[in-house]
Amino acid sequence: MQNISELIEEIIKQESIIYAVFSGIRNKSEKTFNKVTIKKVTIQNEIKHQFEYFYDKNVEHKNLDNDETKAEMSTLLETYFKQALINTKDSDYHILISKKGEVKINKKAPTKKFEEASHNRKKKYILNEGEKSAFLIELGIMTEQGKIVNSKYDKFKQINRYLELVSDCIPYLDKDKTIKIIDFGCGKAYLTFALYDYLVLKMGYNVEIVGLDLKENVIKFCSNLAKKLNYDDLRFEQGDIKGFNQFGDVDMVISLHACNTATDEALAKAVNWGAKVILAVPCCQHEFLKKIKNEKMIPMMKFGIIKEKLASLLTDSVRANVLEIMGYRTQVLEFIDMEHTPKNIMIRAFFEENTNINKVLKEYKEFKNEWQITPYIEEAFGKSLTNKLN
Ligand SMILES: C[S@@+](CC[C@H](N)C(=O)[O-])C[C@H]1O[C@@H](n2cnc3c(N)ncnc32)[C@H](O)[C@@H]1O
Repeated sequence: MQNISELIEEIIKQESIIYAVFSGIRNKSEKTFNKVTIKKVTIQNEIKHQFEYFYDKNVEHKNLDNDETKAEMSTLLETYFKQALINTKDSDYHILISKKGEVKINKKAPTKKFEEASHNRKKKYILNEGEKSAFLIELGIMTEQGKIVNSKYDKFKQINRYLELVSDCIPYLDKDKTIKIIDFGCGKAYLTFALYDYLVLKMGYNVEIVGLDLKENVIKFCSNLAKKLNYDDLRFEQGDIKGFNQFGDVDMVISLHACNTATDEALAKAVNWGAKVILAVPCCQHEFLKKIKNEKMIPMMKFGIIKEKLASLLTDSVRANVLEIMGYRTQVLEFIDMEHTPKNIMIRAFFEENTNINKVLKEYKEFKNEWQITPYIEEAFGKSLTNKLN
């Protein structure tokens, strides 16, 4: 079997690299980047590889030539990361390095299209106007001719932004098994259908996706549409997040705009099931509005709208910190949401067995004291969280 240096040598020689992502940092206590991506760019007629280093709060870039790229890719794999996904013109390579240093290279058919690199190229989205997509046509977002319906342009943008956020999760999903995903509070399921289209039809994953919602009518609508589209591994069920216990070894839990504490229920299920990836876009965070007290914050809290926004931010801060306490690498990102505010936030979390949680635990307890709150999320999680807090 090929080793890593031979593989890198070959990829660079053939100038076939399209995209690569390095993840799963080995030494989490070291203050360094936590993900690196590579893409090809042309700068002043010269082909370079653009390395993007993602730190907690910022991103840095380096444009490297072929020799520098070989050296840097080797260093990233030998020193920093446990895995890499490299998309080339001819194949996709998934490299996994065990704790003992054993290397596994899985080679699969290519999933990304090769295009000539250009530094100033127009941004390529996952879904593009002019490229017909059956689910977009069925949902009335695209016409039969592949044009985006004018009034649905925002929805189209939201779906693309969502898929962009999902695409970063790919290194956490094992292509050799069936990926189990639950979408809590799926509603009319634009984003659930988009997820299926992306993972199954574009990326070639085997999946079992369930969309759950309280509403009978939306479940009927979505089930019929899944059947019509022949999305065989996507099913919809009517039910409450709290009572849903069908999945055990779930890989990814999604909860987009589920109201108020339904997000807490979704996060609790995800963590208690050991989901590797969690995507949550909270909505209508009313819980803290009546609960928070803080004498020093009266200048903000005496104004209703400001207090409401503050309460939402506090709720989501609590959620993100709780995920960190439970061992997840957690990010808070901007998402596009049309129904409530022009933009809102997504909590994206990856399970990485983070053992360095004492600092977050201490900060979380002090934060609760400062605002005099016991958030509902603690009740939703139950013992898995409260045992850590006590
Ligand atoms: C605003 S819609 C969002 C739909 C979709 N996720 C999206 O982002 O486009 C929220 C959905 O969550 C569902 N929902 C709220 N609480 C729920 C619960 N406890 N269990 C299941 N579904 C719930 C509602 O019925 C509604 O369809």
